[in-house]
Amino acid sequence: MSHPAITLPRLIAHRGLSARAPENTLSAVRAAHAADCHWVELDVQLLGDGTPVIWHDATVKRCSDGRARLKDLDLPRARRLDVGGWFGDEFRGERIATLSEMLGLIDALGLGLNLELKVNRGRSAAALVEEAIPAALDRLSSERLIVSSFNAEALSCARDLAPAARLALGALFEGIPDDWRQRCEALEIYSVHADWKRLSRRGALAVSEAGYPLLCYTANDPAAFAHQWDWGVSSVISDDPSCFEGHLP
Ligand code: G3P
Ligand code: MG
Repeated sequence: MSHPAITLPRLIAHRGLSARAPENTLSAVRAAHAADCHWVELDVQLLGDGTPVIWHDATVKRCSDGRARLKDLDLPRARRLDVGGWFGDEFRGERIATLSEMLGLIDALGLGLNLELKVNRGRSAAALVEEAIPAALDRLSSERLIVSSFNAEALSCARDLAPAARLALGALFEGIPDDWRQRCEALEIYSVHADWKRLSRRGALAVSEAGYPLLCYTANDPAAFAHQWDWGVSSVISDDPSCFEGHLP
């Protein structure tokens, strides 16, 4: 099966450079670029009015000055939120980023993007895919894009929308399940993304020896991670990739 010719970096900045700037914001992506990270991981989901925005949680409580559920917000209301002040005064006034704005920035900075389709409880996977995937493919070349999800329906809808040669899909798992390979083959998956704390040597080697890039999230402790590089790990998704400097194989 053919996939886009992606050159994966060793390190990917999780939710942008989320150790240094408010996660999933334009500032976090600019910070990643300034820190010489070439790829970022970001979460996308839909507001209540169907606008795709870069956001992780089902509510805005943790990362803004508001309290609403994302599905109850339209874009004008979401734009009134301050999504930077919770992280630090220098980020006060930061606004939630639409997917469209974020894709423009990623493209302008020449970054690669691991876009995670975040299907929170009660939300439609198909609607998210229909909004997010065409926009991402329009803006970024296939060599700079991996779309991942924990949600099998989202991956399936994404695969229906674009062939494997055009769109690299990443299967997100916590622990790697016994039937990982059947699932990946059925969806013509490009890469496997696993929680590094739940990764076994056997599971990792099965994935890497089958030829799938293996990406591990969210590792911020290079000493604890060190032995896992030998298991065929392609990339680490980290809140602070700079902590891995001097610790790469
Ligand atoms: O894509 C890797 C990682 O972001 C998955 O977990 O909850 O941080 O989106 P989460
Ligand atoms: Mg994520």
